[in-house]
Amino acid sequence: GGAAVDCIAWAWDNSITLISKGTRSTMVDTAQQYSPVTAKIVEELEQIVGRSYVIYQDEERMEEYSHDETPGKQYAHMPDVVVRPRTAHEIASIMKLANREMIPVTPRGAGSGLSGGAVPAYGGILLSIDRMNSILEIDKENLMVVVEPGVISTEINEALEPHGLLFAGYPMSQETCYIGGNVAENAGGGKAVKYGVTGRYVLGLEVITPTGEIVEMGGKLVKDVTGYNMPQLMVGSEGTLGIFSKIILRLMPLPKAQVDLLCLFPDTETALSVVPKVMTAGIIPTGIEFMDRASIQDSAENLNESLPYDTAGALLLITVDGTDAELVDKEYEMVGDICTANGALEVYVADNSTNSRRIWGVRKNIGETYNLWSRPQSNEDLVVPPAAMGQLVTRLNELAAEHGVLVSSYGHAGDGNLHTRIRCPLDWDDARWEAVLPGILDNVYALVAELGGRISGEHGIGHKRKKYMNRVVSEEYINILRSIKRAMDPNNILNPGKIFDL
Ligand code: LAC
Ligand code: ZN
Repeated sequence: GGAAVDCIAWAWDNSITLISKGTRSTMVDTAQQYSPVTAKIVEELEQIVGRSYVIYQDEERMEEYSHDETPGKQYAHMPDVVVRPRTAHEIASIMKLANREMIPVTPRGAGSGLSGGAVPAYGGILLSIDRMNSILEIDKENLMVVVEPGVISTEINEALEPHGLLFAGYPMSQETCYIGGNVAENAGGGKAVKYGVTGRYVLGLEVITPTGEIVEMGGKLVKDVTGYNMPQLMVGSEGTLGIFSKIILRLMPLPKAQVDLLCLFPDTETALSVVPKVMTAGIIPTGIEFMDRASIQDSAENLNESLPYDTAGALLLITVDGTDAELVDKEYEMVGDICTANGALEVYVADNSTNSRRIWGVRKNIGETYNLWSRPQSNEDLVVPPAAMGQLVTRLNELAAEHGVLVSSYGHAGDGNLHTRIRCPLDWDDARWEAVLPGILDNVYALVAELGGRISGEHGIGHKRKKYMNRVVSEEYINILRSIKRAMDPNNILNPGKIFDL
């Protein structure tokens, strides 16, 4: 067991103190320094989770675990073995084995991520939590739900609906993503203006640490200052600090009334100039979604949708909800008036679920539309102070024109969170695109930094964006993240190669 560890050269800077359970090991950051997964290790894994829950030497079945939904083959990497544990104890045993043998472990939810977080960048063990999919308890008195990490997010709300309750912290991909992944990425979505992101609802976690301890963090507590706010450190840690086996989420009464407004504008500038006006009108809309002309046309075409989208240069999809239907009516009328008074071409109202689904269809389908795009692209997740969104889109369009590339922008205008697909022109070859893209991204991130923004609002850093971290945060900041990682994962076993290099 320990032999593999002993062979590794002591490569650390003396100023860093390692606390690693008696084993003298070094923080590794390259694949070569990890040990291979041998048949003997696979046998041990089979003893832990059961033979039928280990996938080994089966390229075909393992392929789906080699990537998430990040466009670009360069972000994929095959695991050496896939394990599908059912319990926290099984995960703890896997982590202990991995530390003893120096094998990387990458946790994986539904694989719907967009930054490579669930990709086993250094091979090793891919730990899928898909079998941990029970809703353990709906605690109506405390307004909480206790779930395992592999529950599909929308299933939580389906179970809550008969009780008149809502878990509001789910993202756009709710029908496929797992709650564990939502917590790990601190997912956002289309309701975050009013309800915030996933992390707001996380009260407690049962966590398997990178070294294989099972630790409770937080609990069924609305207030808790008993030490550091560990649940919120786990939120958004992208599977680098721990694996969740239980999640306690805060609930709220299900809003009874909801109205969606589809507001069409002649251009992006006009559309985005309306957002701060709505946000400061004295109400809190549930969400304000944005799509530019290219996104609208591409998504509508992909859906064969015939709503009057093609004439619009941009749209806002504004949702208002609440428990009082009359109040919701007043609020949406006010929002509609603001749009009309500030340049909207048309405002359509959807106050039933059929119409609502239809006007949301074009927005929800846009990611899928571009995933089908046959040419290379970069899917960005920029975030700026909300009122700077208009400036961001305008200047991105200028940048794209300067570099001669295609760009489509859509996203969460009320949150200042813009998804931009920078796309390779049809008549370019891949080499030309690859030569030009780094320079474009340099310009894009410099622009984001200038506006006081960050490079990811809700999709995460993963291995996709880690080399750009220093464009928007200081080296001192990244060093704090590194210290936290080293403290919790002294052997760099859990999801190595993500967020930053050590
Ligand atoms: C969206 C997801 C992909 O907003 O973040 O479409
Ligand atoms: Zn989004």
